[in-house]
Amino acid sequence: MITIIDFGGQYCHLIARKTRDLGVYSEIVLNDVSVEDIQKIKPDGIILSGGPASVTKKDSPALDGNILCLGIPILGICYGHQLLAKMSNGNVSSKQVKEYGKNELRIIKKSRLLNGLGKKEQVWMSHGDTIMKLPSCFDVIASTKTCRIAAFENNALKLYGVQFHPEVVHTPHGERVLANFLKICNAKKSWSIKDRKDVLIKELKDTIKDDAVIVGVSGGVDSLVTASLIRHATDKLHCVFVDHGLCRKYEEEYAKKLFSDIKIKNFYVVDAKKLFLSRLNGVTDPEEKRRIIGRTFIEVFEKKVEDLKKKYGEIKYLGQGTIYPDRIESAQASKRASVIKTHHNVGGLPEKMNLKLVEPLRDFYKDEVRVLGKELGLNHEWLWRHPFPGPGLGVRIVGEITDEKLRILRDTDYIFIEELKKSGHYSKIWQAFAVLLPVKTTGVMGDERTYEYLIALRAVTSRDAMTADWARIPEQVLDRISTRIVNEVRGVNRVVYDITQKPPATIEYE
Ligand code: XMP
Repeated sequence: MITIIDFGGQYCHLIARKTRDLGVYSEIVLNDVSVEDIQKIKPDGIILSGGPASVTKKDSPALDGNILCLGIPILGICYGHQLLAKMSNGNVSSKQVKEYGKNELRIIKKSRLLNGLGKKEQVWMSHGDTIMKLPSCFDVIASTKTCRIAAFENNALKLYGVQFHPEVVHTPHGERVLANFLKICNAKKSWSIKDRKDVLIKELKDTIKDDAVIVGVSGGVDSLVTASLIRHATDKLHCVFVDHGLCRKYEEEYAKKLFSDIKIKNFYVVDAKKLFLSRLNGVTDPEEKRRIIGRTFIEVFEKKVEDLKKKYGEIKYLGQGTIYPDRIESAQASKRASVIKTHHNVGGLPEKMNLKLVEPLRDFYKDEVRVLGKELGLNHEWLWRHPFPGPGLGVRIVGEITDEKLRILRDTDYIFIEELKKSGHYSKIWQAFAVLLPVKTTGVMGDERTYEYLIALRAVTSRDAMTADWARIPEQVLDRISTRIVNEVRGVNRVVYDITQKPPATIEYE
């Protein structure tokens, strides 16, 4: 396995994904990892990610120097490349020409790391600092016009560095560089999500034994695959769907049918609409809304657990559909000063519930979860549903939530998704939804002045929601969606399409 050390680079997850795609399991750790931690992990290789800091600054993120002495091959990318140079007594300057975007790499020496690449290669650069000098035992193996040491290798010390980003699509042969590094590491290509199914079920059986498990389900992919895996490990599974009144149109019916199709007998719907909506009454602050929804969810769920315990006896485990980015993002968020959004699905359910956590998807990315779901025999349509946030429509009605706004948003969202499915665009999009803005504007319908709500449509393409681009839906499709919404949904007279990327915007509005 490969350990990726995160220096805050936006492409860190991409590196992890690419190594897994190449058949080698990888995990991300933060840069304060100690040499003892690494000795415990025993990786075949280490990759140092990029990052926004400058190694020339005094308090820039560092690395335990002893890690370099373990004899484990290390590849530094961008910031990691510069850090390796600095730690090896090289010289890094922040005064050179900066390079951002596509660039031409010229291979100047035969090497193991860049083996198989052409003499000239397109690469993606994004750096302000540049390595000026390296000790003579390092080979400079590639340059660009403005960056002499664009790649280096030191086979004796097993240190390798690239200034460019091999993990992004704009470096067309970047995968080859990563594959070469995995070869240098002698890492076995033994990671395949398909093979994981049986191992996961066995692990669950060994943990759960004869005890009962409860899972909070939503109809979304993660909780569905979690419940399905656990179902393969035990009969004693209870699935609880909390209806917080912030669900999409027909969601309860969908979930009921879904869990009946996968033959989960103990499926319960808890109707808590009134409680949630009364607590949200008059609340406009986004974080306060998230907190109320999160707290109320826990309260309702806890009560259901107690009821079930009275009826069926002890329930020992809580199954959660936490996936890898949830864990990593939460770990980082606690280290960073600012939390962008309070996600209530990670670590949300309190310890006092006295349930032991089982999180069978904790190491997987979303598309790996989908492959796993397919192996479990789940339908394509269930697995390729767009993600839906825990706080539901609560974060898609900007400002105060009312019954009227919920009705408008449900109807609008339903039309949007229906048209995307009909036109074949749903499956090309990571996530699409409607948002109700707390704004009314003037319109004219049948010669009469109207003063109604404004709807924003958001549709994005993405691989894992860390970054996203707005989807280029054809104008005829957008036209049909807009016409239908304004004609069919009472209370809406204007529709706009959101053309913002993440970053700087987030996917959801609150
Ligand atoms: P943002 O808005 O942060 O969203 O760009 C990234 C992804 O996370 C989803 N999301 C959530 N999912 N509970 C969830 O289960 C939440 O509180 C939550 N907030 C955002 C969002 O839909 C997108 O896929």
